[in-house]
Amino acid sequence: MTDTSPAERVEQLTAEVTRHNRLYYELDAPEITDAEYDALFRELLDLEERFPELARPDSPTKRVGGRPLDKFSQVRHRTPMLSLENAFEEGDIGDFDDRIKRFLGLPATEAIPYVCEPKMDGVAVELIFEGGFFSLGSTRGDGFVGEDVTENLKTVRDIPLRLSGETPPDLLTVRGEVYLPLAPFRKFNTEREEAGEPPFANPRNAAAGSLRQLDSRITAKRPLHIFCYAPAEVEGIEFGSQSDFLTRVQLLGVPVNPLARKVSGVSEVVAYYQEMMERRDDLDYEIDGVVVKVDPFSMQRDLGEKSRSPRWAIAWKFPPRQATTVVEDIVPQVGRTGVITPVAHLAPVNVSGVIVSRATLHNWEEMERKDIRKGDTVVVERAGDVIPAVVKVILEKRTGGETPLAIPEQCPECGGTVVRVPGEVAVRCVGLSCPAQIRESLKHFASRRAMDIEGLGEKYLEQLLRLQLIRDVSDIYYLTRADFMQFERMGEKLSENLLNAIENSKKRDLSRFIFALGIRNVGEHTAKLLATAFGSIEHLENATTDELLSVREVGPQVAESISDFFKSEQNKKVIERMLAAGVSPSVEEKRIGGRFTGKTFVFTGALTRFTRDEAKKMVEGEGGHAAGSVSKKTDFVIAGAEAGSKLEKAQQLGVRVLTEDEFLELLK
Ligand code: IVH
Repeated sequence: MTDTSPAERVEQLTAEVTRHNRLYYELDAPEITDAEYDALFRELLDLEERFPELARPDSPTKRVGGRPLDKFSQVRHRTPMLSLENAFEEGDIGDFDDRIKRFLGLPATEAIPYVCEPKMDGVAVELIFEGGFFSLGSTRGDGFVGEDVTENLKTVRDIPLRLSGETPPDLLTVRGEVYLPLAPFRKFNTEREEAGEPPFANPRNAAAGSLRQLDSRITAKRPLHIFCYAPAEVEGIEFGSQSDFLTRVQLLGVPVNPLARKVSGVSEVVAYYQEMMERRDDLDYEIDGVVVKVDPFSMQRDLGEKSRSPRWAIAWKFPPRQATTVVEDIVPQVGRTGVITPVAHLAPVNVSGVIVSRATLHNWEEMERKDIRKGDTVVVERAGDVIPAVVKVILEKRTGGETPLAIPEQCPECGGTVVRVPGEVAVRCVGLSCPAQIRESLKHFASRRAMDIEGLGEKYLEQLLRLQLIRDVSDIYYLTRADFMQFERMGEKLSENLLNAIENSKKRDLSRFIFALGIRNVGEHTAKLLATAFGSIEHLENATTDELLSVREVGPQVAESISDFFKSEQNKKVIERMLAAGVSPSVEEKRIGGRFTGKTFVFTGALTRFTRDEAKKMVEGEGGHAAGSVSKKTDFVIAGAEAGSKLEKAQQLGVRVLTEDEFLELLK
């Protein structure tokens, strides 16, 4: 039995981890468990540390960041990164089109071939691929000299560390826009607020801040993405047009915006612009206009450049997402966890098509830092479907009559004690029976993304609370038709519907149930991870801190919130009452909390009593993981005849080794 050499193993692992990354991140179809993945990843990391010369430039370990830098080095762009001229209305596009035809000596009736693309509101970068490998990434800087952010860009999973295809070009330089999608942006800001850091005003600033981290491990934690939109120097490949570039570069694995489209003449440009305006709010990233480019590169060359922008392209901007209005009042609002946040009530104002009358001020420190007062004239910004925020006060408009709002000393809803948690900026009402907290947690529980109890919204929940028919979420499952019939304007049919909706919610996924409980720091994503890892609410309730921490992406803060939640007798009773009423959150098939929950098995050598696939099924059937390689996290190695290096490693690490028969014993 010959063992693989470290070099071979590094190559194997690089390929394997890259493949599993793709399955997990791109196809959403993982083939191995988190624990197995972690084991492969760690093995590769170990080998690379021991034999740095073996680390490949496309190693997936680069995706998690490396040692922090002292500063970024500078990169001179071989051709300057120009900016674009702006258009604000249809007439500007007509003028642009006329200019092009005049310059090229074409008749006014000619329909110019254009490519239209969303104008990404992010951070411009240049990526260089040499011999197929991603070798240098830089920011735009002043257009001539930017900063080397290669290590940070390697953590952006969209960017191929190696181009796909058999014969990649010798040199490929592309430019594109790095952005942070809206969902992680929102999550990121919430986390910053909880940590007492000022939130970012918009996703672009957050993306820029993330990309300019000297510590790439921080960048790795921000789910940045990229769309590439233009070539620069290339060797060994030629593009005939922008549309040709977009298609061919995509085949090499370079991401381009799927909304880019080839059109003909001004009228189609206008239609494209209108379509994007309409779709703007449905996108999960911010765009601030569309970019119109002459398609054939031959025409682009003939048109050439002015000093700072090309003649062949123009950015047609959308109306701004910002507007100016007056703060009519600042009102403290109590959330479901008792956190009290200042909310600005605004004179209604149209911000790119949406009437805005409220804006979050995030937290008190933020309000004080920006010095926002009742009566102030302010700039509000709306990013996608994110809650509008006050960007800044227009100080020149101050008259002297503006009044700041003091941090409340009592809960505005229940009059209860308010505390400032040390180390947190949050101001919190600790009243256990604070009606606002109860109302908000009930709303959250019944909401669409949680238990999805259709029809049971704020209106009915408030009536139920007022009539003292419910006090906590478990009471929902003990409501009767007679209870509902006490409401004004409630008919048989409506109460029937509500009861049915409540009944249907009893069978929701475990992940929704966990999310619905409103455990601090447990959002939808974490709830899913927990549901998969623990398989039942009882298992989660009884999980030790170590077990919680063994779940990928669960850190100490989340683990502590979960433990705290289940320490409360009150919370336990509420859950018990729900289960007693027939709430039985359904469980994702794979893991029914079995004998092997949380345990990792590795099978090695020649197996005679079962195949590897059967072994894997048996382990997973009992809630365990079957991993491919041995690490400190392995609990059992099952060794058949001629077991080699894995057996040795297990012995080194003190992992228990079983025979096939002993393993079968465990299952009896
Ligand atoms: S093409 C020669 N296409 O807008 C200029 N730019 O105002 C090549 N941008 O610096 C730029 N989306 O950062 C182009 N689809 C797109 C874009 C785009 C966003 C940014 C880019 C550029 C700025 C110019």
